[in-house]
Amino acid sequence: MSQDVVSARRVIAIAAAMALSAVIIAAARAQNAPTAAAGPTLAKLAVENRKATYTLIGNYFRYFGAVAKGAAAYDEAEAARRATRIAFLSELVDENFPDGSNVGEPDSKAKADIWSNRADFDKRLKEFHAHAAAFVETNAREKGATEAFKAAVAALGQDCKGCHDTYKIK
Ligand code: HEC
Repeated sequence: MSQDVVSARRVIAIAAAMALSAVIIAAARAQNAPTAAAGPTLAKLAVENRKATYTLIGNYFRYFGAVAKGAAAYDEAEAARRATRIAFLSELVDENFPDGSNVGEPDSKAKADIWSNRADFDKRLKEFHAHAAAFVETNAREKGATEAFKAAVAALGQDCKGCHDTYKIK
């Protein structure tokens, strides 16, 4: 085989590889583009993400309500694990209420007021983080269903209820 044929083949192989990677990059971009016909829109992703995150928060939190009422036994390792998860998850919600993610999303129960009262909603998100972080510390200090523990559960529960009453469709 002549040297020319080898180098021509190499050029063709490189061009083919470049064309393939361009296709892969275009496909990856299309997945994230808000108006892409294939893949979900950004608004739909935001709704899915916040619902999934809130579902997890609810599932981790339920235990504390039961412990505070005396319906479940306090377990130190279990309580610490759940409190840390809630604090982490509370941070994830923020990025999933982007502008426009309340429009045309039949699966969402988020009220449009979130976007027209943005400052108030953001303040509630911030308070929720602060209370969730404080709850991790209170729980670690109390190590049981004490009055301080119950007060911290109630404070966090009040954040859920306050925000739902104002910004979540029943
Ligand atoms: C700052 C406001 C805010 C706070 C604080 C908040 N939520 Fe929510 N929550 C919402 C909104 C808004 C929705 C509706 C989201 C949607 O459907 O797009 C929601 C939805 C939910 C859902 C339903 C998820 C689904 O799949 O439909 C659960 C469960 C939930 N929240 C639990 C909680 C719990 C438990 C807490 C407190 C520990 C809490 N939330 C705190 C605003 C809040």
